[in-house]
Amino acid sequence: MIECKNLTKIYKNGDAETVVLNNVSFVIADGEFIAIMGPSGSGKSTLMHLIGALDTPTSGSYFLDGQDISKLSDDELADIRKNKIGFVFQSFNLLARATVLRNVALPLVYAGVPKEKREETARQALFQTGMEEKRFKHLSNQLSGGQMQRVAIARALVNNPSLILADEPTGNLDTKTGEIVLKTFENLNQKGRTIMVLSPIKFFYLKLAKIILFDFCQIWLILKIIF
Ligand SMILES: Nc1ncnc2c1ncn2[C@@H]1O[C@H](COP(=O)(O)OP(=O)(O)OP(=O)(O)O)[C@@H](O)[C@H]1O
Ligand SMILES: [Mg+2]
Repeated sequence: MIECKNLTKIYKNGDAETVVLNNVSFVIADGEFIAIMGPSGSGKSTLMHLIGALDTPTSGSYFLDGQDISKLSDDELADIRKNKIGFVFQSFNLLARATVLRNVALPLVYAGVPKEKREETARQALFQTGMEEKRFKHLSNQLSGGQMQRVAIARALVNNPSLILADEPTGNLDTKTGEIVLKTFENLNQKGRTIMVLSPIKFFYLKLAKIILFDFCQIWLILKIIF
């Protein structure tokens, strides 16, 4: 469960102050699928950095599963990221000359999982994204964009995080491939994972999403769409 109250982020550059998040409050229950939509510069990525424990707010509070994240040290934030959160980015961020399996297994190396268990865990994460088994030994630069993004999603899943954050995961994909990737998120959500996807404002395929519309660094509207 995510509880944000009056989250504010202000960047200071010399005398100049830029308010990037202005008193943002919302609650996300476990198992929800959230789309944060807003124009460029509205503060979506900044919000995701706070939710993802990559940064702390200037003021306000953020509780993740009852723990106040807004005042943790860098080491404590790193632990939260490692144990609770999976990240997916627009540019995939895969190791180009490593195989699909190796890319997905990499977070397990950092988590200290024994070698014998890593491959099977990585395989299970890949199966959850619908990736075909015959591609598991391919190098990641031999894949299509949609396949690369599914590998990145598997990598985000491999540590079994309770929350998946995706910053414009379809931004580098054509509409059809983007829909396949969103469908992958939807399937994961139906298996109980909490998912937050950031997107510019446009209609896209989402069956069960709560949409938080963002503008001018604050929440504009929260909609729940059920088809
Ligand atoms: N480190 C920083 N210092 C100063 N201003 C910043 C910093 N990081 C972001 N900003 C400003 O904060 C605002 C919001 O940026 P953010 O990246 O959160 O927007 P966004 O909604 O994700 O945009 P996009 O859709 O283009 O990714 C922008 O005006 C940006 O210039
Ligand atoms: Mg952004």
